[in-house]
Amino acid sequence: MSDVRIAPSILSADFAVLGQQVREAEAAGADWIHIDVMDGHFVPTISFGVPIVSSLRRITSLPLDVHLMIDPVDAHIKTFADAGADSITVHVEATENPARTLDTIRKCGVRPGLTLRPGTPESSVLPYLEIVDVLLVMTVEPGLAGQKFIPSMLSRIARLSEIFHAHSGERFLAVDGGLNQSTIESAVDVGAQVIVAGSSIFSAPDGIASAIKRFQTLARA
Ligand code: DX5
Ligand code: ZN
Repeated sequence: MSDVRIAPSILSADFAVLGQQVREAEAAGADWIHIDVMDGHFVPTISFGVPIVSSLRRITSLPLDVHLMIDPVDAHIKTFADAGADSITVHVEATENPARTLDTIRKCGVRPGLTLRPGTPESSVLPYLEIVDVLLVMTVEPGLAGQKFIPSMLSRIARLSEIFHAHSGERFLAVDGGLNQSTIESAVDVGAQVIVAGSSIFSAPDGIASAIKRFQTLARA
């Protein structure tokens, strides 16, 4: 598949030199920058917030793909949109009214995204697929980088990919968690179009650029 996108997740970056690492990812051909916002409540960990988005907006022209692990999420959407997000993905578990939340994101001029925990039934996202531009399938439990890909999510990706693409418009099925050189190909085979990867890019022994190029080769073979 030639159009698979690579979205490095900065959760695993070195924040002392974040701008430098994002520039390196961009120069190596990264397609999106994935930004994981964690609140210490929806998920046990706290990562970072709006200032990271506005700072990165100034140094890269790549789409900023913001993944909000925040509950409740609605009150935070506009500030992330104003900071320069290109897509904002929310958890179906973190909003009482997903349709309204997704509509709020679109009205801010940002692509709406929806995601679900591995243990949340797929039926919870089905009613909203028509109004979603990015469907993110979590392939680990959200909250931490460096976890192992959950293989049973492959059949979920396959099922959701088929339903999702029955709708028209430019839309992306993304996968997030445990993606590395051993798992990318199987995810792409079943329909993943955007590969989010944190530790396997930013902690790669041979460096960020080599990891991105390796992933592009695997994903686009
Ligand atoms: C997990 C985050 C991921 C995380 C992925 O909650 O949503 O984006 O950064 O990390 P890796 O690629 O290391 O599994
Ligand atoms: Zn993420």
